[in-house]
Amino acid sequence: MNIAATGNNDDLQIMRDLIRDHQDGFALPRHFYTSQAVYEHDIKAYWNHNWIWVGHVSQIPEPGDYFLFEYGPESIIVVRDRENIVRAHLNVCRHRGSRVCLKESGKAKLFSCPYHAWTYELNGRLRGGRAMGPDFNPADYGLFAANVRVFQGLIFICVADNPPPIDEGLARLAPLTEPYGLERLKIAHSASYPVPANWKLALENYMECYHCAPSHKDYSRSHSLKDPRELEELIAPLKERSVGAGLQPVNLELTGGDAAGPAADIYYRRYPLFPGYKTGSKSGEPLAPLLGQLSGFDGGTTDIQIGPLNNFLAYSDHVVGYRFVPRSMQETDIQIIWMVDQDAEEGRDYDKEMLTWLWHVTSLDDERIIRHNQEGVNSHRFVPGPLAEMEWGIRDFYHGYLRLV
Ligand code: FES
Ligand SMILES: [Fe+2]
Repeated sequence: MNIAATGNNDDLQIMRDLIRDHQDGFALPRHFYTSQAVYEHDIKAYWNHNWIWVGHVSQIPEPGDYFLFEYGPESIIVVRDRENIVRAHLNVCRHRGSRVCLKESGKAKLFSCPYHAWTYELNGRLRGGRAMGPDFNPADYGLFAANVRVFQGLIFICVADNPPPIDEGLARLAPLTEPYGLERLKIAHSASYPVPANWKLALENYMECYHCAPSHKDYSRSHSLKDPRELEELIAPLKERSVGAGLQPVNLELTGGDAAGPAADIYYRRYPLFPGYKTGSKSGEPLAPLLGQLSGFDGGTTDIQIGPLNNFLAYSDHVVGYRFVPRSMQETDIQIIWMVDQDAEEGRDYDKEMLTWLWHVTSLDDERIIRHNQEGVNSHRFVPGPLAEMEWGIRDFYHGYLRLV
């Protein structure tokens, strides 16, 4: 009997029993954050069945340009092929499984496997297998393709055979995000903050601002989310200013509960910064040139969520993207990507240090609180407590998560 497999099955059975008994409005039990089997199942059942934001078209402007995106045990080659189409391939050789592409990013004419030199076209087709005999048909052994969607320059991939429906949600989001000129962005800076915690704790932390007042002094000075009452008073005047700046004063919320399916979760909401703040800067002053078609600073910022794993914060002059990428059961990379208009020049139009200051210090805070969260959850005495009203985002996440795993 295979003992390891039995242990695995037992762990998944425990997980299913816990899902059955889970009380809505309560945190998840420690098993979800401490079991290797649950972690592997998370990747297979959740990450592989959701859309993941991997990057921006400005990273691969010309045919042959590519970069790798990695999560859990998976590696994806995101490449612009000869026909100018953005494609994504599993970075797994169809011969005996070696990684085909080893360099993080670059420009390629072909992808040649470093093991026995099977060679693939940019579109994933196998050009030839060396000395494979007359009966070998390369057409049968192309790289496995991942699904790709490019939304206003943002590249999303999903490795599932049947990816969750996202097109209708994106079509409804498109007119709201249009004025920001997302397709005209470029990446000004990327940073990764490794945290010794399960990916779900990192994502849950991002989904609530209950912790913002006690944990994020700098953030709380400029962002109103920490107190819903303060927020209410600032919303009506912001709406007026937003329209004046060229934005539609509409919120959009498509949750996994509706007909669009589990990963339709699309969320768009502009909310006010405190008076005196034009953007997420230390001084309140602009950090970069206005985005897209915006005609002024309205003193707001926009939360955008596209699928349950991908979050963006769109200020009037820059966009910050967030991912919480699993590396192992209790290792996660908090990846933060700062984007500005493609014509903005570092040194002249923006200062990288000032641009990244807020979300750098905030992410350092988050790394610390998520780490301590995992340490406490690891204790045998941890029992999940009730969620606060301000933690509604976590509740929504659980609904989708518990349905897929
Ligand atoms: S494993 Fe790639 S060529 Fe053999
Ligand atoms: Fe935080």
